Amino acid sequence: MRRLMPGRNALSAADTPKTAEPRPMPGHVAVIMDGNGRWATGRGLPRIAGHKRGINSVRKITRHAKARGVRYLTLFAFSTENWLRPKEEVHGLFDLFRYYMRRECRTLAREGVRIRFIGDSSEMPADIQSMMVEAEGMTATGDAMTLIVALNYGSRGEIVAASRRLAARAAAGEIDPAAIDDAMLAAELNTADFPDPDLIIRTSGEQRLSNFLLWQAAYSEFLFVDRHWPDFDEEAFDQCIERYRLRDRRFGGLRKSG
Ligand code: FPP
Repeated sequence: MRRLMPGRNALSAADTPKTAEPRPMPGHVAVIMDGNGRWATGRGLPRIAGHKRGINSVRKITRHAKARGVRYLTLFAFSTENWLRPKEEVHGLFDLFRYYMRRECRTLAREGVRIRFIGDSSEMPADIQSMMVEAEGMTATGDAMTLIVALNYGSRGEIVAASRRLAARAAAGEIDPAAIDDAMLAAELNTADFPDPDLIIRTSGEQRLSNFLLWQAAYSEFLFVDRHWPDFDEEAFDQCIERYRLRDRRFGGLRKSG
């Protein structure tokens, strides 16, 4: 049985039980799938080999999260900043998306997994845009779990675009600027149809959000795992869930128990 590396994966002060009953399963888990490049280079392989292996983890974790009763799983697949990577890596990643969509959509549909995308799809290659529309259509009735793939996604850009839309409506006299509140802004975000993530996991030991779900993460729990994404398996996912369930979430209020 493979174990998580010691250190940050060991139970921390935040993980010591503070409630009599463990909290329920997280309804929405979001993952920053980091460490593909390091997984590959550590083995003397090209970086794209790590992304390829990362697809296996995407499949495994999607199936497993669904089996565990997670309702929403968000995966950060390509950020608006990832365009800064060498052209070959960006093209390689796009080829992997194509491969994934061709192979997985039917399976997701069969398994009741609805796929949705967040991010600016207009900048993606035209054939990938078509595949995204097709995949959303093909899986639209899935009610076991929603898999949200963040593709060309950046949270600051999302918030700026939402603010612009609200400003335009205010300028047109449709809304009163003083009436703009959290709910109105949230309704303009790419994630308007989804609940905020309960748990955000980042693999590979880095501890930052990297422009991911900045607004939506206001009260999320965070777990940073010292394992590269291609090595993140069902057991590692279950350990994250166990740690989450020991957390005491107060949403700014006071602790309910003792
Ligand atoms: C971060 O690792 C990972 C990415 C930028 C891409 C993630 C993409 C996949 C796992 C494959 C496609 C996903 C789907 C949903 C089809 P990194 O390259 O930054 O790793 P490093 O920090 O070690 O360099």
